[in-house]
Amino acid sequence: MKRVLIVVVIALLAPGLARAAELPETTAQVKQGRQLFQRSAKGLACATCHSMEGFGNAIGPDLRHLASSFTPRALVMTIHMNTTVYVQEVKLSNGLTFPGIQKRKDNGMVEFWDLSQNPPRLTKWKDSSVAGTRPNGAWQHPPAMTGYAQQELADIVGYLKFVATGMEKEVTVEDLRK
Ligand code: HEC
Repeated sequence: MKRVLIVVVIALLAPGLARAAELPETTAQVKQGRQLFQRSAKGLACATCHSMEGFGNAIGPDLRHLASSFTPRALVMTIHMNTTVYVQEVKLSNGLTFPGIQKRKDNGMVEFWDLSQNPPRLTKWKDSSVAGTRPNGAWQHPPAMTGYAQQELADIVGYLKFVATGMEKEVTVEDLRK
């Protein structure tokens, strides 16, 4: 009984730890990639804007789609991309603009993540105060400027592939060129 109580208290106090205990046991590379995904000593961690295994913010796209089909090289090119598909330049009727990604639109209101803020901030506008959107020309995906080492990218790709497909085969730095 006492032990059950202690476990419950730990689970309440440390949701991160409790979750880590539930994650599947896996390879050293996947664990390293997970660490890099969740925390970064070099600028914004991926989890600031992407959610994987229930961790992080779903601001950018769900990475399992690309990670299940793209080669490691194509994934790294996408991580380093400087063109965007989803991010738009949002123009308000007062003339202000910001790089944004739409979250929701209903009842005459529209929500955009404002990507000019770090971390991105959720903003809510009346439809009438948004003049329009056009293709983004200014916002860059943060990892493009972060300078991850090749081995770190291999570990991140290994992690994305593992979550998307269950693959545990090591992704080598050599694979990033294929
Ligand atoms: C500041 C927020 C932010 C951070 C940090 C971030 N991303 Fe992204 N990411 C985005 C957004 C927004 C998009 C969508 C870009 C677009 O419009 O095409 C995206 C797109 C992607 C894509 C393409 C997905 C697709 O389906 O098109 C990949 C892959 C990706 N990110 C991986 C990563 C990885 C790996 C990291 C960490 C090393 C990371 N991102 C860090 C916001 C972020």
